Amino acid sequence: MIHKPLIIANWKMKLPPKEALILARSIVPPLKSASTGHSRYSFVICPSFESLAAVGTIFKKTPIALGAQDCFWEQGGAYTGEVSPSTLKKIGCSHVIIGHSERRRYCAESDEMIAKKMAAVSETPGLEPILCIGESLGIRKKGTYRAYIQKQLDAGIALIPRSKRTQFTVAYEPLWAISTMGTGLPITPDHCEEVTQWIRTCLRHTLPNARIRIIYGGSVDAENIMSFIMPDISDGVLIGGASTTLRSFKNIITTLYKP
Ligand code: PGA
Repeated sequence: MIHKPLIIANWKMKLPPKEALILARSIVPPLKSASTGHSRYSFVICPSFESLAAVGTIFKKTPIALGAQDCFWEQGGAYTGEVSPSTLKKIGCSHVIIGHSERRRYCAESDEMIAKKMAAVSETPGLEPILCIGESLGIRKKGTYRAYIQKQLDAGIALIPRSKRTQFTVAYEPLWAISTMGTGLPITPDHCEEVTQWIRTCLRHTLPNARIRIIYGGSVDAENIMSFIMPDISDGVLIGGASTTLRSFKNIITTLYKP
């Protein structure tokens, strides 16, 4: 693995501000004591927009990074309801999730919109995008998932300036494995490996010199996390539901740092 494994917690719209603050405050001590000052992992926590600034204050002077769950593709202007990448950077974010399948489904985000967001985040100094891609069960069963994933990947990086095409992460999230979108059952590590290797092959072809992190997301919890964080399988995980309660988050920390 070329980088430390990346652990991303996506709190979605599950925690109102007060709960988000309580959880943020509560995970700092166990994380600090488990890692004994030297973390083997990079942690990024992504609260919803209204909690970003306050949660970011709690993570200051800790190794935990702050991420946003989405952003707009312009840096300012008449775009009602949107948030710009540069504003996210100013309030302390270092990462932004782009193209999550819930946004693709419920907000009709197209590959074209996602391409513009990826470019805008990549062009914002100090901000790194996390591109979510993944097929539906129907596409999986049809057997056309490789072409589908390649198309999402190519579209996601199409507008990023050449010099910036090294600083992003790809999150492979098969739709039916996401707890809120399908069965909530994770895929097997073998399945994950097959697809992440395919993503690596596609990236080698388009970006031969880049060292991109490829992580897995979909019903990751303390039970299965270690089977995904393996050199040939994935460089980290994106955790939804299991990162939103203190009990399950603590279990994940304990598992990650088990001797
Ligand atoms: P989940 O969510 O862990 O609750 O399945 C993952 C995701 O949406 O990225």
